[in-house]
Amino acid sequence: MGFEIIGTGRAIPPKRVTNDELAKTLDTNDEWIRSHTGIEARHLVDERTSCSDLAAESARNALAMAIEQGTCVEKTVEELALTVDMVIVGSSSGDYFCCPATACIVQDMLGAKNAGAMDIVNACSSFIYALETGAGLLSVNKGRRRALIIGADVLSRFVDWSDRSTCVLFGDGAGAVLLEKTDTQSGVLRAILGADGSGAEDLIMRKGGSRDPFKKGDAFAVPPHIEMNGRAVYVFAVNAIAETITKLLDAEHLTIEDIALIVPHQANARIVQAAAKRLALPEEKFFLNIAEYANTSSASIPIALDELNRSGRLRKGDHILCVAFGAGLTYGGALIRW
Ligand code: ACO
Repeated sequence: MGFEIIGTGRAIPPKRVTNDELAKTLDTNDEWIRSHTGIEARHLVDERTSCSDLAAESARNALAMAIEQGTCVEKTVEELALTVDMVIVGSSSGDYFCCPATACIVQDMLGAKNAGAMDIVNACSSFIYALETGAGLLSVNKGRRRALIIGADVLSRFVDWSDRSTCVLFGDGAGAVLLEKTDTQSGVLRAILGADGSGAEDLIMRKGGSRDPFKKGDAFAVPPHIEMNGRAVYVFAVNAIAETITKLLDAEHLTIEDIALIVPHQANARIVQAAAKRLALPEEKFFLNIAEYANTSSASIPIALDELNRSGRLRKGDHILCVAFGAGLTYGGALIRW
């Protein structure tokens, strides 16, 4: 049994904000942001756009690609949407605080009437967790064949725009893949999922959950937002990337020479450079597009996959290794034979 990606898509908000533009209202500058993170710009949603809008757009683009490339027999996006058995949205900035799941909104927007829908809330690792969950749900039930796996985040709504150490890092976006159960040995070959909850406080949005719920009369100087221990996350991330890559290669009896490209979560170019150094790999082995999009959290890996796919950089049979890390603390990796 294989789990092939038969279409990819992305949704990027048109509003592009450069480092220089941020520096007009924040005590920061282009040089610091570029040199510490590799980020040059980010795309941010307008007031009317929420997580489900981006998620649905990226999913429609993935469905449209499957039709254009003839990887399915269906002829329209609407027809193809009806064949989807699961819609899974990985996100930490869904449309609603508690319920319903954003995936349900997306399922309705797509007209995917025959699909179950669920969210995976696991910060920047959400997409890899969603991919493995999707493959698992397809494999346990003969009646399921296709799953839309989406990573979508609008963290611009949950950062403190007066805190220069976090707000400069994030951008909004969504990416999607259409996963199909096949009888080939291609697609998602293996995934690794991991967590270290002892680091939960290192990347956290404290307010609003059952530990510290919103109360009548609450007034905020700054709305609830992400707090981050940047150094701790940095150290965790470098280790997580290096260990996940090593474990995936070992488990599949592959060497790094067998891998065409590593697609890391795009949190900080320096994290990727440090991981490359740790593994004694050339930086070119890692795909980076953080300069344009900043950290789009759950969306960064599927956006990267779609960019690579549409630009023809992924050839059939290539081994691609995706690796993510994020709040939780969590990490995950997936080895894909394209
Ligand atoms: N512009 C200018 N100066 C800044 C900025 C900024 N945007 N941000 C911080 N500084 C200053 C600090 O105030 C500090 O000044 P000081 O020395 O006078 O006190 C100085 O720069 C150094 O600050 P550090 O925080 O020590 O900078 P560091 O080199 O550690 O880089 C960074 C910070 C980029 C956040 C780094 O720690 C990092 O990338 N960590 C990982 C973050 C990450 O990946 N987060 C997302 C995880 S994904 C998820 O799940 C959401």
